Amino acid sequence: MSNSNNRGTFGTKLGVILAAAGSAVGLGNVWRFPTQVSENGGAAFILVYLLCVAMIGMPLMISEFVVGRHTHANTASAYKKLAPGKPWWWLGGAFGVLTAFIIMCYYVVVSGWTLFYMGAALAGRMPAGSDDKVFVSFFKDFVRHPYWPLVCALLVMLMVFFVISKGVQHGIERFSKLMMPLLFIIILVLVVCSVLMPDAQDGINFLLKPDFSQLTTSVVLSAMGQAFFSLSLAMGCLCTYASYFRNDTRLARTAYNVGVIDTVVAVMCGFIIFPALFSSPDLPRDGAGLVFATMPKVFVESFGHAPVLAYVFSVLFYLLLLLAALTSAISLHEVVTAYVTEAFNTTRRKAAVLVSVVCLLLGIPCSLSFGLLNEDVVSFFGMNCFDFFDFVASKILMPVGGFATCLFAGWYLKKKLLQDEVTNRGTLRVRTFHIYLFLLKYVAPLAMLIIFVNELFHVA
Ligand code: TRP
Repeated sequence: MSNSNNRGTFGTKLGVILAAAGSAVGLGNVWRFPTQVSENGGAAFILVYLLCVAMIGMPLMISEFVVGRHTHANTASAYKKLAPGKPWWWLGGAFGVLTAFIIMCYYVVVSGWTLFYMGAALAGRMPAGSDDKVFVSFFKDFVRHPYWPLVCALLVMLMVFFVISKGVQHGIERFSKLMMPLLFIIILVLVVCSVLMPDAQDGINFLLKPDFSQLTTSVVLSAMGQAFFSLSLAMGCLCTYASYFRNDTRLARTAYNVGVIDTVVAVMCGFIIFPALFSSPDLPRDGAGLVFATMPKVFVESFGHAPVLAYVFSVLFYLLLLLAALTSAISLHEVVTAYVTEAFNTTRRKAAVLVSVVCLLLGIPCSLSFGLLNEDVVSFFGMNCFDFFDFVASKILMPVGGFATCLFAGWYLKKKLLQDEVTNRGTLRVRTFHIYLFLLKYVAPLAMLIIFVNELFHVA
């Protein structure tokens, strides 16, 4: 079996699920999801999001698993193996590697911010006071600083490198098995505290009572984009992880578990942030500001009478962000490292060093985008480097990559191959196979086409 080469393999079923969930649960859940919910009208957005996860996310995830596990190869080679002599498909896989690389360059920068905030929280050096400006300027002064954010990104990269260089089973799997349960515990503690805050009810209503008049096409499209990002789809991340699955791993069930965990975590993060936020309605609600300026203020305000609780709450919150960010950054790194190792026939360690160094070098302009190299100094199409990387990856490469995966699995691959993989060569009965096939062939590609066209209109 192609499994017998010296690539790594995940050891246990739980390890597989926690590693894949570690990739999916990330900054996308803790800050992108709440931001999207608040921008798109609350509960109605969440309902659409759930539909998108079930109807587009799940079939795509299963397809990535099929491609990865069938070939036991990195994303680019996986496509090449399944479509020999058809360079266009190879390009689809290579796109994935490139996208992962680009996302990683700025993902480590933001992960570095979470490390800094956790350090500040631990050291008791978080901003204090009643003026909102103090909190916003604490954040801005930090991201503008010429080297501290870089030092933090470097530290995050060292941690990621350390885990990656230990290999699949001893690195990624072990780290995920230790960190994911810790992450779930932190989330539970924070949800309970947040829901018990004064005025929490308004936040809870916002999350639970849908107002369908808020539903517009742009809400639907944002929900689809968010589902992609949050489930780590459309760029070979889960395909790379699936290449380390054993032949008895149940693909459909794993996808289902990962989808459920990611969604539950996202909704619970909503339950952490909204009840807290609705107690201080005037603070910023946009992405970075929400987590780095608003939440610290919320901690101070809510626990003004009990500074110990404010301390514990903020340390836990930033630890949560850091853990979520780390396991996702690891998965992005793995996509590129697996490719470099196999394409250039080198050792995993050397590949990992190369990927880390180049990524950090490109991370420098991303990090400096908020200070020395802001958009007035260096700009690409009017965006600073950070925004440009994000734009290229999430608005162009990801939709194209997702669409390509869908066409590849749904229309190019033989149904027999899909069926063999999903049923582990006929040893399992998967009653949902036909639903999966229908969603994959028709529903998902059409929906994605709509996202992409809409994005183009937005840009134009
Ligand atoms: N899903 C992660 C998050 O929610 C981010 C991430 C990791 C990702 N790997 C990815 C996003 C692959 C898109 C594609 O933060």
